[in-house]
Amino acid sequence: MKKGHFIALEGGEGVGKSTQVRLLAEALKARGIEAVITREPGGTPGAEAIRALLLSNEGEGWGPRAEALLFAAARADHVEKLVRPALARGAWVICDRFVDSSRAYQGGGSGLSDADVLALHAIGSEGLLPERTLLLTADPEVAAARLALRDGDQADRIGGRSAAYHASVAAAFQRFATQEPDRFSVIPADAPPDRVHGHVMAALAGLLPA
Ligand code: TMP
Repeated sequence: MKKGHFIALEGGEGVGKSTQVRLLAEALKARGIEAVITREPGGTPGAEAIRALLLSNEGEGWGPRAEALLFAAARADHVEKLVRPALARGAWVICDRFVDSSRAYQGGGSGLSDADVLALHAIGSEGLLPERTLLLTADPEVAAARLALRDGDQADRIGGRSAAYHASVAAAFQRFATQEPDRFSVIPADAPPDRVHGHVMAALAGLLPA
């Protein structure tokens, strides 16, 4: 059976993940490979509905535990209905964020233990992990400037949290990359998108057909 590849792009807001997801999918399609672009939270109608709940600025907001459960529920729907079927038919799935975002934001940023976040993932998605996780990193000032261009002053409920929160998130991502060097590639993303794309392709070279 043809085997698909599951690739996640991770990192803080404004590091250029969505651009790199698009460029990677285009490069794969140019090689005749089926590439499915998706994102978290979201990717299926059910998970997109949970995304709207999670990111809106309305109401009192969710505590970290409720938030982690909602992300895990969105992921469970996404994995069952989109990710696993695409992998089963041999496609590449290119995902803008996955469980490491829950580990970094609800764990590193909001203080839940990594074991608890991973336990939710085990229940919701049978612990599915990407084959490769590309961690895009950027200087916080470069990322802030990109975000201002994209969102103006319309940051979502999580994106709008303090600089200290986002620094804890960034530190958590770096920690995971150090702990799992075989799964993670850290890609500096301050450079122009085509240069960063070159690093993305180099990181995935071992998976590409000759
Ligand atoms: P984005 O897709 O525009 O980056 O927005 C998603 C936001 O949700 C971003 O602030 C990161 C946050 N997030 C979590 O806190 N936990 C998660 O598991 C995921 C997937 C995203």
